[in-house]
Amino acid sequence: MLELKEGERHPVDFVLNGKPTRALAEPRMLLSDFLRQELGCAEIHVGCEHGVCGACTILIDGVPARSCLTLAVQAAGRNIQTVHSLEAEDGKLSDLQEAFRRHHALQCGYCTPGILISAERFLRSKANPSEQEVREMLSGHICRCTGYVGIVEAILETARTRAGARS
Ligand code: FES
Ligand code: FES
Repeated sequence: MLELKEGERHPVDFVLNGKPTRALAEPRMLLSDFLRQELGCAEIHVGCEHGVCGACTILIDGVPARSCLTLAVQAAGRNIQTVHSLEAEDGKLSDLQEAFRRHHALQCGYCTPGILISAERFLRSKANPSEQEVREMLSGHICRCTGYVGIVEAILETARTRAGARS
């Protein structure tokens, strides 16, 4: 087993938004700080730093996780996705991101990357959610600006559009 020594930096190999990635991290470095400071992932927003606000949410092996509650070294061998994984390779926004824009589902945008990651994962597991289910999913995220109305509408509209495209 790898012995991690305080103060020493260790290589962490993982996949970041589809690309094999390696960077150095101290044993106690948070994944949120690692992604922002070592890899320039400015889309990782840090709010409360103790797992409450949801701003730092990413996917680890497809499961939403708080990067502020995860150690960087825990990313080793994992598949990490930030909000940029939702975009096409040419930078074109996803249908969900476009719906957020149409419905004015963001103002300052601080909560938005985390909410988009959770919402996309939610829609993949629940194709036809009710408004109540969307609101329950959003209970893991704090948005201080929007009142959530536009966010809920954007998620529900995306679910309806995807269902229409499937039928
Ligand atoms: S910064 Fe991680 S949950 Fe708030
Ligand atoms: S848009 Fe400002 S916190 Fe959500």
